[in-house]
Amino acid sequence: MPSFNLLLLAGDGIGPEVMAEVKRLLGFYATTKIADFRIEEGLVGGASYDAHKVAIADETMAKAHAADAVIFGAVGGPKWDKVPFEARPEAGLLRLRKDLGLFANIRPAIVYPALADASSLKREAVDGLDIIILRELTGGVYFGEPKTITDLGNGQKRAIDTQVYDTYEIERIARVGFELARKRRNKVTSMEKRNVMKTGVLWHEVVEELHAREYKHVQLEHMLADSGGMQLVRWPKQFDVIVTDNLFGDMLSDIAAMLTGSLGMLPSASLGEMDAKTKRRKAMYEPVHGSAPDIAGKGMANPIAMLASFAMALRYSFNMGREADRLDAAIAAALGKGLRTADIKSEGSTVVSTAEMGEAVVGELARMAS
Ligand code: IPM
Ligand code: MG
Repeated sequence: MPSFNLLLLAGDGIGPEVMAEVKRLLGFYATTKIADFRIEEGLVGGASYDAHKVAIADETMAKAHAADAVIFGAVGGPKWDKVPFEARPEAGLLRLRKDLGLFANIRPAIVYPALADASSLKREAVDGLDIIILRELTGGVYFGEPKTITDLGNGQKRAIDTQVYDTYEIERIARVGFELARKRRNKVTSMEKRNVMKTGVLWHEVVEELHAREYKHVQLEHMLADSGGMQLVRWPKQFDVIVTDNLFGDMLSDIAAMLTGSLGMLPSASLGEMDAKTKRRKAMYEPVHGSAPDIAGKGMANPIAMLASFAMALRYSFNMGREADRLDAAIAAALGKGLRTADIKSEGSTVVSTAEMGEAVVGELARMAS
């Protein structure tokens, strides 16, 4: 049986609760001898701050570098509102992304048939939706320097964030977009704000050039990001792969998540460059939802985004596409039986806890395996 090393970083809020369902799943893979996932665990975010006064410790970073994949829960919460900016919980997540070089963030928004009515959009607008927001994850305004607040001395302060992109950063994320699209419906929509931003001008230019040079057979369109957001709620099925920068991708993926009924449904994969020698890439898998401190500890959280993120790990890190398909099918089957966590509940459905949903998904998997 294949064996892989995972680093589990549950983090804060509902992170540990949804991570518990990943452990249940790993238990299933071990007992059925499908794969042996060896796990290490570490602290990140507020939990790490409480223990070490940093959002992620160097030793934990070293483990992340060594692992075949990092499985990440969520970070943040009001408890850490006043900690220094450098040590805020989110800094741990950002360091993982940056130091591991995880520039490609794949955020699929898929509407499960059973959930088409949970969306705030009309059923016909979202039924069968299957799109990807491909977000650049290690550049742009998240990491650009200078990033400062200065006191101007006249009772005023000045805050600066820097949006910066180099050609190679745009080209490599666009390439991932074209590669994804050609295995899907062969369409890429690039979103930027070239009417206002120089980074948008360069983004547009680099995507065009790459397309003309290597991907002519993929359909490419460009949208201004604001208009793209509007189109995403107007008629999301027009899209296949949307490729966009770090900040726009953050916003557009929250919008896309809501199309599917709940933020609790959206998984993500963050991938680094493929190592030409080892044919392996650094990777982290995380649900798009945050730590949801308001419902933390109540057993109410939806584990589906976390479990579906693990399905992405099977697909992108472990070459276990068939198991990934099965896990996705098991999630759909549990939903098909009318089981719902509180965030996606509807009339006639059965509201279940985080653990019950995890149990149901693993139960469906077991049924498929036997
Ligand atoms: C996300 C989150 C993060 C981001 C936060 C927690 C720093 O919103 O992954 O979408 O802004 O990237
Ligand atoms: Mg976000």
